[in-house]
Amino acid sequence: MYGDTSIQKPIKIAEPTSAEQAKLEEIFQQKIDDDIKIEPQEWMPAAYRKTLVRQMSQHAHSEVIGMQPEGNWLTRAPSLRRKVILLAKIQDEGGHGLYIYSAAETLGTSRAEMIEQLQSGKAKYSSIFNYPALTWADMGTIGWLVDGAAITNQVALSRGSYGPYSRAMIRICKEESFHQRQGYELLLTLSKGTKEQKEMLQESVNRFWWPSLMMFGPNDANSPHSAQSMKWKIKKKSNDQLRQEFIDATVPQAEFLGITLPDPDLKWNEERGHYDYGAIDWEEFGNVINGNGPCNKQRIANHIKAHEDGAWVREAAAAYAEKQQKKQVA
Ligand code: 3HC
Repeated sequence: MYGDTSIQKPIKIAEPTSAEQAKLEEIFQQKIDDDIKIEPQEWMPAAYRKTLVRQMSQHAHSEVIGMQPEGNWLTRAPSLRRKVILLAKIQDEGGHGLYIYSAAETLGTSRAEMIEQLQSGKAKYSSIFNYPALTWADMGTIGWLVDGAAITNQVALSRGSYGPYSRAMIRICKEESFHQRQGYELLLTLSKGTKEQKEMLQESVNRFWWPSLMMFGPNDANSPHSAQSMKWKIKKKSNDQLRQEFIDATVPQAEFLGITLPDPDLKWNEERGHYDYGAIDWEEFGNVINGNGPCNKQRIANHIKAHEDGAWVREAAAAYAEKQQKKQVA
């Protein structure tokens, strides 16, 4: 039905004529509409490739930068059990980053190029990681709210049109579920603790609630990428749909913890079948994603230092790979 649109390498492919391009785009969109996964070797519109590299590389950056706030608390975990859980989670996040970088590389952009875009500020990463983790309760709140928001988003992404990205999400979502559970369990412990522990819990949620809602991106009306990403099924649900889904699932969990969410307008709307919620501070959001959040500079500086400190590992791996290749050829 679709004909063979796989790109035969290494012959140089002549640019298609406009009629051929239109035909290719028609076949491509038909595949998307029929929920056929698009694979790396297949023809795809340059704009589809471009927006996938943008989103996937920024997703991977988010996973790796997200290791920093939690890494700060590893040496201060209150017990060996908590330390081991946090260590496992942080290692998972690093693995998620590598997973998604590898999926993004199937689109022809190198890891080095993506890292350069991150470190130079050309590429974004999730706004949430530009907020500081100030107390131990933040380790629970990040797991519960940030990973909870990430799962809401990533379950939808696991049904997306680009094969390698959607498949990467399956394993990542399973691990995120552990992240969300361990965070919630940490907060449940605090919610049954001393007065100070309950205060620390509430104060942490007060700081992370609104930035967690911002993770889903601007309102649909102000999202320049959403319409096209929905047409291409890169996004299966809109920013506002996912945000609402997250709020509806999270409010009852907050009630179980015995805390109040810092939004006086938050209340169940029987008619809508959803929670109504207050206005998000989009000015704050804009500041943070444009590099002026509380921790932006520190996060990038740390990333650059870690990348430079780790250069010897990359050089050794490359030298070893070259030696192995020479052995095979010899
Ligand atoms: N933080 C930073 N930038 C954001 C953002 C956020 N929370 N929300 C939106 N933006 C940026 C977009 O990247 C885009 O900028 P760009 O053109 O320079 O890339 C601009 O704001 C407009 O937003 P759109 O809604 O039009 O952009 P998208 O269609 O790309 O939607 C998104 C934004 C919902 C974040 C989407 O990119 C997405 O689903 N990304 C994949 C999931 C992801 O990145 N999650 C980040 C969290 S990962 C994580 O939490 C790790 C977990 O283990 C804890």
